[in-house]
Formats: sequence, C-alpha cells, structure tokens
Amino acid sequence: MADVVLAARGVRVVRGGKAILRGVALEARAGEVLGVLGPSGAGKSTLFRVLVGESPPQAGRVMLAGEDVTGWPLWRRARAGVGYVPQGPSVLWDLTVRENLVAYRRVARLPPSPPDEAAARVGLGGRLDVRAGELSGGERRRLEVARAVTRSPRLLVCDEPFAGVDPAGAEQLGKLLRTLAEGGATVILADHHVAEALRVCSRALLLLDGAIAADASPEGFREHPLVRGRYLGTLEPEAARI
Ligand SMILES: Nc1ncnc2c1ncn2[C@@H]1O[C@H](COP(=O)(O)OP(=O)(O)OP(=O)(O)O)[C@@H](O)[C@H]1O
Ligand SMILES: [Mg+2]
Repeated sequence: MADVVLAARGVRVVRGGKAILRGVALEARAGEVLGVLGPSGAGKSTLFRVLVGESPPQAGRVMLAGEDVTGWPLWRRARAGVGYVPQGPSVLWDLTVRENLVAYRRVARLPPSPPDEAAARVGLGGRLDVRAGELSGGERRRLEVARAVTRSPRLLVCDEPFAGVDPAGAEQLGKLLRTLAEGGATVILADHHVAEALRVCSRALLLLDGAIAADASPEGFREHPLVRGRYLGTLEPEAARI
C-alpha cells in the first residue's frame, strides 16, 4: 500500500465553548483522492484549516509524511508541498490572473514558475490578463484552484472547488485533481456537488457533528445508511444526481 502522506490523530477544535471537532482521525495516502463530505456545519472547513496550518487544534496531531507538523504555520506547510483552496474567495481582486498566480507563489515563499501553464490547466489560458475582479464566479474559483496547483503539490486540500463552477468546468477541475493524484499527489476534497466529488474520489469519509461517521468507497458511500439519513436527504439517487 502507498505511503501515508497526511495523518490526523485525535483532532479536537473548540470554538466559543463548543466542540466543533471531536477527536477526528484520518489517513490519506499518495495517489488517493479522499472526499470529506457531510452536512453544513459538520466541521469540514474547520478540519481543513487544521490540516493546512491556518488554525491550530486544541488537541491532537497532524503528521505530514511521518513528520509532526501540528505547530507549523500555513506558509511552512506550503513550502513542504501542501496546497490549499479555501472555501471563501481568496483572489486579489485588483490583480490580473497572471499577477495572482505570481503573487501567490511569492507570498507562499515558493520559487517563481510560469503562470501560463497553471492557467491553461484550469481553462483560463485565454484570461491571463483579465483582472480577477472581472472574472465570473466560476472562473474565479478555477483561478483559486490553479493557484494551489502552480507547483504540483504533494498534498492538495480543496474546500468546495466546484462551488459556482459550471458542469464542464467542474469536469475539467475533477480531471485535473485525478491527474494530480495519478502523478502521486494526495488530494483531500470537500464539496456538496456529491456526484462530481464521488466521481473524483477514490474513498469518501462522512463527517457528522465533528466526528468521522463513515469511511467508504464512492459506491459504498452513496448507499451508507448514515449518508442517506443524515446527509443526502430523501431525494432518490437519480434526482440528487448521485
Ligand atoms: N470562529 C468560530 N466561532 C464559533 N463557531 C464557529 C467558528 N468557526 C466555525 N464555527 C462553527 O463550527 C461549525 C463547523 O463549521 P465549518 O465551517 O467547519 O462547517 P462545514 O462542514 O465546512 O460547513 P459547510 O458545508 O457549510 O461549508 C459550525 O457550526 C460553525 O458555526
Ligand atoms: Mg465548509
């Protein structure tokens, strides 16, 4: 079996006196696209912020390729090969697509690399000189993904990469994530576009109330009683497009 690239152990996060994450443990291996799916408020984004070093947990550990990185800040993890697409908008509105790609690498203290290739990978090759503030919502999202993959990361954590992206764009992003994994990267993904997410994932976890409640193949995930009962609702699979 491939090496464990990212491991979380006993991750606990408390906000405003409430336990948001209650001892989350997970492992993600090289070549794997791991889905972390679950209802709004389950704690997915909170977990991702802990995995990438944006906020520290109150208890627990994060290991990157066997090394304890729990105390490492975001930039240091970025340097160690961790890419992150946060849930909210994170582009620099007044800069062009090209400038955003260049600026991100500078801020992340990564060596420069040509932005054209990263833009082309997400279908923004023709939009390099457009200001980010003038992109459509879906184009902006694709720029945010492009930025995270400017240097093929060893671990890519994507918080709702398909949000606002049209079906063809989502398919292209999905293929990009799969290609990264086939090249040996590890991808961790949250998204409520369940059909697209499960097409891309090799395994999916259900996060419920701050704890992992199921760990399944994409096929097993769709059928899991807790997934059906607590996440997907009562829509028939066809209607829910899963
Ligand atoms: N700083 C904070 N203070 C208090 N509560 C917070 C804070 N940050 C997050 N929470 C709460 O933690 C819970 C989990 O939030 P989180 O954003 O991780 O959920 P999520 O699973 O990503 O949801 P979604 O699918 O809507 O993105 C929510 O109930 C949220 O209100
Ligand atoms: Mg979220």
